Amino acid sequence: MSANDGQQNDMSTQNAVHIEPWGKGDLPLLTKLLGDPAMTEHLGGPESEEQLSKRQARYERLTEEGRGRMFKIIHEATGEEVGSVGYWDSTHQEDAIYEIGWSVLLAFQGRGIAGAAVAQALLIARSDGKYQFLHAFPSIHNPPSNALCRKLGFTLVEECDFEYPKGSFMRCNDWRLDLFRAS
Ligand SMILES: CC(C)(COP(=O)(O)OP(=O)(O)OC[C@H]1O[C@@H](n2cnc3c(N)ncnc32)[C@H](O)[C@@H]1OP(=O)(O)O)[C@@H](O)C(=O)NCCC(=O)NCCS
Repeated sequence: MSANDGQQNDMSTQNAVHIEPWGKGDLPLLTKLLGDPAMTEHLGGPESEEQLSKRQARYERLTEEGRGRMFKIIHEATGEEVGSVGYWDSTHQEDAIYEIGWSVLLAFQGRGIAGAAVAQALLIARSDGKYQFLHAFPSIHNPPSNALCRKLGFTLVEECDFEYPKGSFMRCNDWRLDLFRAS
């Protein structure tokens, strides 16, 4: 093993993450992720306290209602909660699909954390066996999210106008992953 390989192993150990189901105490994490202007630049801006509380309640109910799963991302080295990833039932061009979304706190970005966490969530979505297709709709102006889709084997379908948040339309890329095909 070269010195370079050793450094890379150290880095991947330092940046290792796992995902855990979203829980009742996770409103503070949600507020850091979606209540912050810099974190929501490509998501229509920060949510209000009321919107965050409603979203927290939706995340708590998602799994028990069988409409998807939301996870928090845990940094293994420190135990810190550093992000979220989740997928939920949606409809796209009249087809029932899963839609996926993700978010990693600024201080932890650029270390491969979203890549590792989203890959873990995709394994669970595949094992659910519910829908064939899972879509992501990142803004065309969001290079890391588009790079993430490409890296994780999604197919770029087309550019489209996507309503998010409700009432406002964003120019997005429609990325699709076939969950029934071996990865
Ligand atoms: C999108 C986001 C989750 C990525 O998190 P991250 O942990 O930094 O992502 P990773 O480190 O796993 O990097 C993912 C890919 O993006 C690439 N990337 C990162 N910044 C980039 C940039 N400015 N331009 C182009 N590619 C970029 C990385 O190189 C990596 O690809 P690679 O492994 O092929 O090199 C993070 O930027 C974020 O939380 N943004 C705010 C929330 C958001 O916009 N969510 C999108 C909802 S669709």
